[in-house]
Amino acid sequence: MPLANLIGTSVTVACFRDMSPSTKLPIILDCDPGHDDAIAIVVAAQHTNILGLTTVGGNAPLSATTRNAIILRDLLGLDVPVHAGANRPLVQPPFNASYVHGESGLDGADLPEPSGPPESHDAVGFIIDTCRANEGIWLVPTGPLTNIALALRSAPDIASRIAGISLMGGGTFGNRTAAAEFNLWCDPEAADIVFSYGGPLIMSGLDLTHQFQALPHRIEMVRALPGRLAAVLADLFDFFSHTYQSRHKHIAGAAVHDPCAVMTLTHPHLFERSLHHVEIEVQGARTRGMTIIDQRDLREVPDPNCDVLTGIDADAAWQVVVDAIAHFSR
Ligand code: RIB
Ligand code: CA
Repeated sequence: MPLANLIGTSVTVACFRDMSPSTKLPIILDCDPGHDDAIAIVVAAQHTNILGLTTVGGNAPLSATTRNAIILRDLLGLDVPVHAGANRPLVQPPFNASYVHGESGLDGADLPEPSGPPESHDAVGFIIDTCRANEGIWLVPTGPLTNIALALRSAPDIASRIAGISLMGGGTFGNRTAAAEFNLWCDPEAADIVFSYGGPLIMSGLDLTHQFQALPHRIEMVRALPGRLAAVLADLFDFFSHTYQSRHKHIAGAAVHDPCAVMTLTHPHLFERSLHHVEIEVQGARTRGMTIIDQRDLREVPDPNCDVLTGIDADAAWQVVVDAIAHFSR
């Protein structure tokens, strides 16, 4: 992994030197692992050039999501820095989804200890410095958008340097509330900054990700693979699906949300999409964090700002997940 310590920077800035056509998409994956974040990391590790993993509080407290990101980095044998970021939203009080992911954020498997601490506790500085040192990076947030919003607010110049933002969040229905999806509900003020940043934006919302479930036969495809990583991830899928089925009336497996934000960049042919104007409800007492997706067939609607994913070839996408796990499992 081409990393470089630039003189005078406070954090290691990742650089990619080779811009040959074979170069994988450079991304920074901002995550809150999290069972589905873990799968996003695996798919990204095979199909993109991960310049860094940045962590945010969400599924679990920041200390846990950072620990989990390091453990997953180590399990995959990646030469990728982990930088810890925001431990709380911009305005709202912190909230964690232990009811879905367990107290550790990755309950359900026998995991190794992390190899060490994060490379820094300045994820926002890493995002800013890396985006300033390299043009054309995709920011791929799969947790609350606090780090991304702080980077855009502190360094507005990066908005025109990045290739875009591909995020997991939002939808025409919620999961944290009837109106709002968890990532955007956690930090609606951050989401408002991101959805109004003005550059390319792809949204993998719940309408899409609930089409991509860890069905029993799909988990068995993972468990059938050789190697420790496959066994660990199959156990994580079992736990994740158990909590989903214990909370939902009619679901056959956990919705595997986060890898969709990666695969739309690496396997775009697997997705259907439509452009809409999307904005975030920040003030609503009952609708905070809701994505207002303008679907009116009127000439007067605001110009689209978001590529909203609406469909997925779930079997083919699951094969991408299985192949990525097989690639790293030994
Ligand atoms: O609402 C689903 C999202 O919230 C996913 O990113 C999941 O990991 C949690 O962060
Ligand atoms: Ca997540």
